Amino acid sequence: MENIYNYIKEHATQQADALSWVEKQTHLRTNHARMLSGAVQGQFMRMIVQMTRAERILELGTFTGYSAICMASALGANGHLDTLELNDELEDLILEGFGRAGLSDKIALHIGDCKETLRRFRKELGIADDGSCSQGKLYDIVYMDANKREYCEYYELVFDMVRPGGLILADNVLWDGKVCQDPLPQDKQTLGIARFNDMIRDDRRVESVILPLRDGLNVIRKK
Ligand SMILES: C[S@@+](CC[C@H](N)C(=O)[O-])C[C@H]1O[C@@H](n2cnc3c(N)ncnc32)[C@H](O)[C@@H]1O
Repeated sequence: MENIYNYIKEHATQQADALSWVEKQTHLRTNHARMLSGAVQGQFMRMIVQMTRAERILELGTFTGYSAICMASALGANGHLDTLELNDELEDLILEGFGRAGLSDKIALHIGDCKETLRRFRKELGIADDGSCSQGKLYDIVYMDANKREYCEYYELVFDMVRPGGLILADNVLWDGKVCQDPLPQDKQTLGIARFNDMIRDDRRVESVILPLRDGLNVIRKK
């Protein structure tokens, strides 16, 4: 599989210098470089933004900013990306990467638990109990990549914040193949993702497909 991944990586558009910088700093300054979405998925995310002509993007789980830069680099002049991260120790690295990519004016970093930030955003958008929105513009794309145990909660919080026809992209939904194991591993992350994938399959308000890209990307379109 590693050979195939390397072949695909070598035959995709090469990542920008700022992304190479973020990748290198992530390896040097954190112990979790495996959380980076990486060049292939990053290029795919960039293309999704280009193809949908998205103008407003919401990301849950910034880590060191790699995927935020990939998506924001495809935004037009009026585009904006909000990215939510719990770990305040990453803030300096994230902001330097956004600066190096020339995207500081397009990306807003919100430090804190994303569930709290989402509740605040819902209030700011004037989202009522029936899901209607009275203020501001809904998001074209939401990219979910924070705590795998909480994907169902995130989905319930973000659903009304996405415009009809918009996309919710959920990362790591194959969880290293664990979601297909029988019996299903009983750790909280596997259970959280399995419950999420079942919830999406059964939700008539959306259509969806899981792409076997890296660790699995659930592409969910709000009808
Ligand atoms: C897989 S990494 C994100 C990777 C990033 N999207 C990328 O592709 O480079 C997940 C991130 O979510 C953050 N996170 C976990 N729980 C969170 C929460 N409740 N609120 C906000 N961020 C959270 C973690 O600190 C971590 O940095």
